[in-house]
Amino acid sequence: MALHIGSVAPDFTQESTEGTIKFHEWMGNGWAVLFSHPKDFTPVCTTELGRVAKLKPEFEKRGIKTIAVSVDDVDSHKRWINDIEETQNVKMNFPILGDSDKKVSKLYDMIHPEWNDTLTVRSVFVIDQNKKVRLIITYPASTGRNFDEILRAIDSLQLTDKYSVATGVDWKHGDNCIIIPSLTDPKVLKEKFPKGYHEVKPYLRLTPDPSK
Ligand code: BEZ
Repeated sequence: MALHIGSVAPDFTQESTEGTIKFHEWMGNGWAVLFSHPKDFTPVCTTELGRVAKLKPEFEKRGIKTIAVSVDDVDSHKRWINDIEETQNVKMNFPILGDSDKKVSKLYDMIHPEWNDTLTVRSVFVIDQNKKVRLIITYPASTGRNFDEILRAIDSLQLTDKYSVATGVDWKHGDNCIIIPSLTDPKVLKEKFPKGYHEVKPYLRLTPDPSK
């Protein structure tokens, strides 16, 4: 069955460059970003893995662990890591799942046979502390992902979980937010948004970032 936003992220046990991973147990009480790579020793993936290793402090700040998957085995990943570290000037600091049996790729529908029936596309799954899928992004193999955008989207998810707001186009931490349209009671609005709000239209009401 296809995975959707709101689905429980499938659990699995699989070998990785950091030993055996029981996914839900490995996640603990935090969030995770699980992302796939078509194949080892490929150029775009090499740059992406280096970038995610450099962004580790940013993911950690948000309570997020990252984990990659590629359809080759762990020995191949370990050889590839030498190249990633050499070319991207970084120390790898998160696991890459071996997936030569395609267990994880199939579980998460990362193989799109109309493109290629053995390699994975570039999938990203953001999974929250309740093991629910919160965001799914799919890129083709030839287009590297923008992990700043993934962090930005995670900031929105974590903010909107906490406050009765949505975030508009190109929103970044600190920008004005949008009050969710279902909130109309003036008393509640005053309680929830003590800094006030600006009503551009009755359905478009802007308020300062409530987390600041
Ligand atoms: C890459 O990661 O560089 C890549 C993988 C498959 C097809 C094209 C590019």
